[in-house]
Amino acid sequence: MTKFYISTPIYYPSDRLHIGHSYTTVAADALARYHRRRGHETWFLTGTDEHGQKIERAAAAAGKSPIEFVDEIVAWIKDLWSALHISYDDFIRTSEPRHEKAVQQIFAKLFEQGDIYKSSYQGWYCTPCETFWLEGKLKEGNLCPDCGRTVELTTEDSYFFRMSKYAERLLQHIEENPDFIQPASRKNEMVAFIKQGLEDLCVSRATVKWGIPVPMDENQVIYVWLDALSNYITALGWGTEKDELYRKFWPADVHLVGKEIMRFHTIIWPCILMALGEPLPKKVFGHGWLLFGSGSEKMSKSKGNVVDPFVLIEKYGLDAVRYYLLREVPFGSDGTYTEDAFVLRTNVDLANDMGNLLSRTTQMINKFCGGKVPTPVPAEDDGVLSSLAVDVVKEYEAAFDRLEISTAVLAIMKLVARGNKYIDEQAPWALAKDPAKATQLNNVLYSLAESLRLVGVLLTPMLVHTPEKLFDQLGLDPASARTAVWEAATTWGALPAGTEIRRGNPLFPRIEVEKEAAPIVETTPAAAPAPAPAEVKVTEPVEGVAVIEYDDFAKVELKVATVIEAERVPKADKLLKLQLEVGEERRQIVSGIAQHYEPEQLIGKRIILVANLKPKALRGVESHGMLLAASTADGKLSLVTLDKPDFPSGGRVK
Ligand code: MSP
Repeated sequence: MTKFYISTPIYYPSDRLHIGHSYTTVAADALARYHRRRGHETWFLTGTDEHGQKIERAAAAAGKSPIEFVDEIVAWIKDLWSALHISYDDFIRTSEPRHEKAVQQIFAKLFEQGDIYKSSYQGWYCTPCETFWLEGKLKEGNLCPDCGRTVELTTEDSYFFRMSKYAERLLQHIEENPDFIQPASRKNEMVAFIKQGLEDLCVSRATVKWGIPVPMDENQVIYVWLDALSNYITALGWGTEKDELYRKFWPADVHLVGKEIMRFHTIIWPCILMALGEPLPKKVFGHGWLLFGSGSEKMSKSKGNVVDPFVLIEKYGLDAVRYYLLREVPFGSDGTYTEDAFVLRTNVDLANDMGNLLSRTTQMINKFCGGKVPTPVPAEDDGVLSSLAVDVVKEYEAAFDRLEISTAVLAIMKLVARGNKYIDEQAPWALAKDPAKATQLNNVLYSLAESLRLVGVLLTPMLVHTPEKLFDQLGLDPASARTAVWEAATTWGALPAGTEIRRGNPLFPRIEVEKEAAPIVETTPAAAPAPAPAEVKVTEPVEGVAVIEYDDFAKVELKVATVIEAERVPKADKLLKLQLEVGEERRQIVSGIAQHYEPEQLIGKRIILVANLKPKALRGVESHGMLLAASTADGKLSLVTLDKPDFPSGGRVK
């Protein structure tokens, strides 16, 4: 059976994590879920890197012992991963005995075989900070870059790993395994670095207390990278009697890491593994950073620009956050987070494109097919959506195999966009009027519903609630979105005809940012003196058209509204009943436009509502407001809409 072992970096619990860390973890989660979905035996590891001076100091500053300090943050991190529905199989903490014992074993083995040796380490030492500094990092006058005090050139006994010995073998491995370092651009950087020559690596410290003791020397602790990197095998039980997981899952299929720690994973870690005589991971993938704001800065607590993932989830919902993380940044490159871009992405892709496709399709099946998915006649199908779907599945799988999750998301959205366009092209409301077009109508509606089912299946690795919601509205067992065998579930035509639609709430309510649109006209400040009247030529009133004062106009409250639902009013050929979203408010209006628009054409349209019109009943149906439309004497009619596709509803028109 195919197996898949994926890891995230283990995070420093020195502070709470931000959306950048969530980015790596959500990406790894999507990959793990995809492989599980494909039926591969999958192991997904994450965890925390708890030792070292940084944590020791942060704990001291908080008046806590290191373990008390990290316990609290680790609990917080685990809560974050549950809020994001991260499906990890194991969470390793480097302070756990299972890890500490195995790391000591690794150290002892390398020491015994002569790959670790004792020597002395020379560096600029700041006694109050207990830190060694490289000469290049010092402030002018040999001052500590942290506290500004004088540092001294000091020599300390340390253990070293003979990394230089493995440089040639590593270069050869990289050359023979073109997929080992991904993306390829990072590979060239790493190769250039190795070719400069590798120095032996200091793997212990006498000045740090919070760490794993060197087995043969109680004055030293094992330095962080040897400790941290080993987590990928200690978590699998390497070197113990219970090493079934290690035998099953090692070598890892992917270590997913941020680009800044590629060097540790593609140079130090492989050299350690070669020294241990263990196989190397199949792939190390270095993704880019999620930068912040218009200045595209790296997020950091000190810059005060971190985005708290809990707040985002609370505000916008889990699937919107996961979608954004997986879609926004082309995998491998850097991307920039701004709240505006987040809102736009959610509204355009999820609320508009995906939400409207579902809403329009289910509404038409209700109306034209008695609420049941119609039986298609494949021989007469135009194949527009079915053939695209076959390509989309191929593209999606190929993208996942290359770890290009954003490309896989794009493939899904291609099917969604084509579905919406297909509705406009096919105009099912027109087909429904012609009994000779019944087969075509059934084929069109079946294809739309089937595309949505497929979208639901393809989204299962990425999103947590949406696939179930899609399945539910299509009348399918929601759980089957995740449980149906992949090959069958991704084959066109799996949606049974006759399934009963269960129309529900919009998939993704639009996010309304502005409660009120900014006024276009500024009022003159009261204190400013009125300018001397220039000679103004006043246009004469047209006869028969009343002239009004601005105050009269201002009495009319015009607002932007989005049509969520539309249906005909029974026994009234001119009337449509519309459900509108006006900011956070819902409104029902009845409008005399049924001879110009089909209900399905209107869903998602942004219109202008006269919002403060007295409610009244039309043919017994309550209408609370009126929409604006232009008309000509010879009976043409066009709705007044907005030219910006993403303008929020609720905005005031003045
Ligand atoms: N503890 C080490 C890793 C040891 S792995 C054996 C470490 N930890 S960390 O807490 O600093 O987390 C680093 C990882 O978090 C990065 O490699 C990256 O995957 C992720 N990210 C942190 N900030 C990020 C962004 N702003 N954007 C994308 N990823 C980010 O380094």
